[in-house]
Parts: sequence; structure tokens; C-alpha cells
Amino acid sequence: DRSLLGLKDISRNEIGSILDRAAYWEAQEEKVTPILSSYFVANMFFENSTRTRFSFEMAEKRLGAQVLNFSAAASSVEKGESIYDTVRTLESMGIDAGVIRMKPDGVLQKLAETVKVPLINAGDGSNEHPTQALLDIYTMRKKFGELKGLKVSIIGDIRHSRVARSNLWALQKFGAHVNFCAPESMAAPELAQYAPYVTMDEAMHSDVVMMLRVQLERHATGLLKSAENYREQYGLTEARAAKLSKDTIIMHPAPVNRNVEIDDAVVESAQSMIFPQMSNGVPIRMAVMERAIRG
Ligand code: CP
Repeated sequence: DRSLLGLKDISRNEIGSILDRAAYWEAQEEKVTPILSSYFVANMFFENSTRTRFSFEMAEKRLGAQVLNFSAAASSVEKGESIYDTVRTLESMGIDAGVIRMKPDGVLQKLAETVKVPLINAGDGSNEHPTQALLDIYTMRKKFGELKGLKVSIIGDIRHSRVARSNLWALQKFGAHVNFCAPESMAAPELAQYAPYVTMDEAMHSDVVMMLRVQLERHATGLLKSAENYREQYGLTEARAAKLSKDTIIMHPAPVNRNVEIDDAVVESAQSMIFPQMSNGVPIRMAVMERAIRG
């Protein structure tokens, strides 16, 4: 199957092959290697994005693919057309692969079973964001070499986080130890059987401290009562960051709520991998797109 719907159901070997291929693409000096010049790919974003959308486009163009960019706000979705009909429309026109991001949970699997073109999940609701976790794991592997035994603490809005879920499923396959840390209102109790919830102090003793964005757009009103209070209890403040081991890396998928879940100065600090994560997104998405089209 050339689709990439999530990391829960793909093997460690397959994830490893994608990471290895991304390393190959990262090492290429040529910016454009036009192996996909006779293929058309559509980026279908039914939900806003900066990093994922542009790094997919960058990856596709670096492989020479013909790129169609679909934005829900400028489409017939505004007239009430469904996600299904939109994807079927682009498929009818002859696309070879589709990248898709959408808000509702549980729709992508059914959609992928219905259409013939490979689909790549660019974030579906609170379910999975596989290419984000792949670039996260790629970043960890570059820093530490080995994922086995790595202690990764994921902190913040776990309940709404597709990034936390994709990282959890993939990291466990490689023998990493995942912890969660969240206020009760943002915890996902159904995940406690896979990763323990720890205190903020415990979470700071990790190889990787992964902060998550408080996803205000998915919250019922009032869930984040006080940004300052949240920062004090669950934020990676300058004071907390100063006490981290010098070997600990700080990650965040971004966009960042600066001075809520992470302090401004910490985003730009030497231990922060936030911008390298974004760079790594391009070779990862080149590997995923090549796999979708060529197998
Ligand atoms: N990390 C991430 O998915 O960012 P965007 O929402 O900007 O794509």
C-alpha cells in the first residue's frame, strides 16, 4: 500500500526505510532531481497549514512533480461540496497522489478505501499526523543515533494532539520510552495504557522534551482558563529550560504559542530543534511522496 494514513499500522522496517531514504535526499546536493516530472500530485488542505503544506510543495517540486494546490477556502467546498466529492473530482482529473489534511476524525480511512490514488495524511483531526512524527523521529535519530531506550516526554495538549499519537505509535516500535505530561483537562486517558503520565519535574529529566501547542481552535470555550497559569504549570519556561541536561533536546511541531507552552527565548535557544525539525520535513516528505508514487 502506497498510502500513508498513519504510523500505528505500519511496520518498524517500513518507517526505517522512509527515514533512510530521507537521509539520502538530505545528502543530495542538487536541489531538483526530477524523477516525478510525469506525475501530478494534489495538496488538498481542508484545514489551515504553513509548514506541512509548504514542505510538501517544496518536496514535490524538488522531485520535479507537477503540483496542484487546493485550498478549501477558494474551492467549491465553500458551496457545500464534501471532502469525498472534492477528492473524487481531483482523482477524475488524473492526479497520481493526494496529500490531505482535514478536521474530522475517522474519515480518512474510509476515503482511502474508496479512491484509487494513494493518499498521504497531512493531519486528520486529533488522530494522526504521520509525516510530522517521521520528521520528529528523523530529528531524534540524527541527534542520538539510536532510538532504542530514548526517553521522550510529550507535554501539553495530548488530548487534541495527532502529533502525540503518531509519535507514540512510532517511537514504541523502536523501543523508545514515551511519557506524557498534561493538565487533566488536556489529557487523553485512553492513551495511559501505552504511556504513563508523569509530573512536569519528571518530564524535564528526558532525552527529548517535546512541547505541544495548546490547540485553542479545538477546545470547548474556557478549557485554557489562564495562559499565564498554564505557562507556570506546564510551560517550558526559561527557568525550567536552564535546568535541563545539556544533552536534552527541545522539540515542538509548531506553530508555537510563544510564552504559553514555551518561552520566546527557549524557542531560539541552542538546545531547540524547532527550526531543524522544519528543515527535516522536506527530505521526509520527499521520501514519502516518492514512496506514494513509485512504491
Ligand atoms: N506542524 C504542523 O503541522 O504545522 P502546520 O499546521 O503549519 O502545517
